[in-house]
Amino acid sequence: MLKVWIAGAEGQIGTAINEILDPLEMETFNTDRAELDITNTDEVLSFGEINRPDVIINCAAITDIALCEQNPELAYRVNALGARNLSLVARKVGAKMVQLSTDDVFDGHAEKPYSEFDDTNPQTVYGASKRAGENYVKEFTHKHFIIRSSWVYGKGNNFVNGVLAAAKRGESMSIPQDQYGSPTSAKDLARLILHLIHTNEYGTYHATCKGVCSRYEFAQEILRQAGLQGQLCPGATNEADHYLARPAYAVLDNFILRIIDLYAMPVWQASLAEYLEEREG
Ligand SMILES: NC(=O)c1ccc[n+]([C@@H]2O[C@H](COP(=O)([O-])OP(=O)(O)OC[C@H]3O[C@@H](n4cnc5c(N)ncnc54)[C@H](OP(=O)(O)O)[C@@H]3O)[C@@H](O)[C@H]2O)c1
Repeated sequence: MLKVWIAGAEGQIGTAINEILDPLEMETFNTDRAELDITNTDEVLSFGEINRPDVIINCAAITDIALCEQNPELAYRVNALGARNLSLVARKVGAKMVQLSTDDVFDGHAEKPYSEFDDTNPQTVYGASKRAGENYVKEFTHKHFIIRSSWVYGKGNNFVNGVLAAAKRGESMSIPQDQYGSPTSAKDLARLILHLIHTNEYGTYHATCKGVCSRYEFAQEILRQAGLQGQLCPGATNEADHYLARPAYAVLDNFILRIIDLYAMPVWQASLAEYLEEREG
């Protein structure tokens, strides 16, 4: 039986992985901040040596963009050094390492989707600390999958739930129409992760659902599929809430997945439909 350690198991992606994995196929060690802080090097090493996982999936991170700007030390401790600690364990016990990363490693100034071979140039503390985490994983492990995604929604605080909640309260929302990305459900990302860990196709991957839209179009589609009337005002990034101040062009090309014909992500509208259906159920 495959032994899998999921760090940050209570976050959106950790939760989605737990919901779809087959317990008959995998023994899972779930930890989050309360059980095991990934910044505690000795405890991380000791947990890894005792449990000797075959795979470590690092879903733990400080994902609050504003908090990262306010507290860069915290961002680097968790997003960079936490990833280093888990990589040290992976190397020590011979485990495969999965590191979640983000489109925020790019500057968002491109006019075509970023491939895995494009140079990174983060503009935020969050993006820079995540890139530092990627670099540690590359430095300390060989058997790694670095998976960059964008606009992820699952169980937790995210754009989809924010739009639905505001619509139900009858609040108007100013949504940027100058930010582009590919909305990606945590569940679809989880499916890809569980596929990848059974392979030896190591390296960096871009993994988002198929298709591109603006934040505004994303919000419109959320309301349309949910059958809600919302008050959406098309805005520009600098007018919007700070948590929406993201790279203008966050579109990732799933180039490697495509050229080796490894896995096809679904179209984003279909993924959203599945999410909303399960949310209601
Ligand atoms: N959400 C997105 O749009 C998106 C897009 C691309 C990539 N990603 C990446 O995907 C990964 C998971 O994202 P997510 O949306 O699932 O994030 P999330 O919902 O914020 O979950 C992160 C989890 O990590 C935990 N955590 C924070 N600090 C920790 C520490 N020191 N030790 C152990 N656990 C700690 C958090 O606990 P607390 O709640 O107590 O802080 C939370 O349960 C991250 O690496 C993120 O950068 C996310």
